[in-house]
Amino acid sequence: MKGNVIVGQSGGPTAAINSSLAGVYRTAKDRGAKKVYGMLYGIQGLLEERYIDLSEHIKTDLDIELLKRTPAAYLGSCRYKLPEIHENKEVYEKIFEILNRLEIEAFIYIGGNDSMDTIKKLSDYAIVTGQPTRFVGCPKTIDNDLALTDHTPGYGSAAKYIGTSVKEIIRDGFCLEYSKGVVTIVEIMGRNAGWLTGAAALAKGEDCPGPDLIYLPEIPFDLEDFGSRIKELLKKKGSIVVAVSEGIKLSDGRYVCELGAGIDFVDAFGHKQLSGTANYLASYVAGEMGCKTRAIELSTLQRAASHCASRVDILEAYQVGGAAVKAADEGDTGKMIVFERYSDDPYQSGTAVKDVHKIANDERLVPRAWVNEDGTYVTDDFITYVRPLIQGDVAPIMVDGIPRHLFRPF
Ligand code: F6P
Repeated sequence: MKGNVIVGQSGGPTAAINSSLAGVYRTAKDRGAKKVYGMLYGIQGLLEERYIDLSEHIKTDLDIELLKRTPAAYLGSCRYKLPEIHENKEVYEKIFEILNRLEIEAFIYIGGNDSMDTIKKLSDYAIVTGQPTRFVGCPKTIDNDLALTDHTPGYGSAAKYIGTSVKEIIRDGFCLEYSKGVVTIVEIMGRNAGWLTGAAALAKGEDCPGPDLIYLPEIPFDLEDFGSRIKELLKKKGSIVVAVSEGIKLSDGRYVCELGAGIDFVDAFGHKQLSGTANYLASYVAGEMGCKTRAIELSTLQRAASHCASRVDILEAYQVGGAAVKAADEGDTGKMIVFERYSDDPYQSGTAVKDVHKIANDERLVPRAWVNEDGTYVTDDFITYVRPLIQGDVAPIMVDGIPRHLFRPF
């Protein structure tokens, strides 16, 4: 590489996003980039000229290892939607003035479907105006809902945490007896895609029966049917655990979380904050059945749990960061790196380069065939798909009994 590289992180963080950052940094350096800049808070920060020279922060091999084990976006993230080019050309002129001044040859953006919109718009503008910078997306999202890729970095670690936590919750439920039983509702992220919620089924094994019901957002939710299933289950067992997606909707399109005292926040991409589904359903069950209930919102814990990261995920996240730099160095622009799966067992995968225009703003949902007929559980095919992605561990580097992270003052 003759010029410099700039990398940003965007959208919801994951336990693996910094491993991609480490992969970008190392590969850019290995390919001869003079400087590797990090945008602070993604494109929003770049517009305010907020960036750092990463070599001042990543100095040793130990720093790289710590970065791979550090959850959340090391550089800071944003949910910033670039205007359409014809709506506000000044924004683009400002960005390209900064990129040209910094002699940026490759712009790498680590993010999900909304963030790929940024790569799409910037690469289009660069082509139309003849700018030299190349733009490549590095996939990331716990939601696993990016089009054209087998899976996304961040998903495997979140899925491992969800399977592990749901298993622990089920065990906890077994050990106490309540006269009318106890119903625990576990709310899982993923927006309109059920990939994460389906991972609750990973709890099931020789030593655990798994959750009793799993509700994905792909299937319309029927409150009455849910109530009667809980009633039937309570006749047979004392503790019931239900995994629900934050994004389950009634057949009329309303989110279940909107039925309760939800939060009204909407982000720049028009996404409502989905929170409160478990609370609403736990109150509903308590009201209808008079039994003890518990609502558990896994919330940020599921995307920040680097102590429970999947080795496959962390390694692939690193690999995909390197592949993004390589693609840009070899002349690609307006592209995103994807994973292709060659086999489940033994698990084998590789990377490929795809057109970001076919990925940005799209949502890849769980196929209907991977949910049972009742819409209350995932099938074995789903488990075969997710199981390889949660394999292996990455031991945290422990200091004074707590995992050590790579620190950067915010
Ligand atoms: O897009 C990833 C994600 O974790 C979604 O699963 C979730 O709905 C959303 O981010 C939450 O984002 P925020 O932290 O901005 O509320």
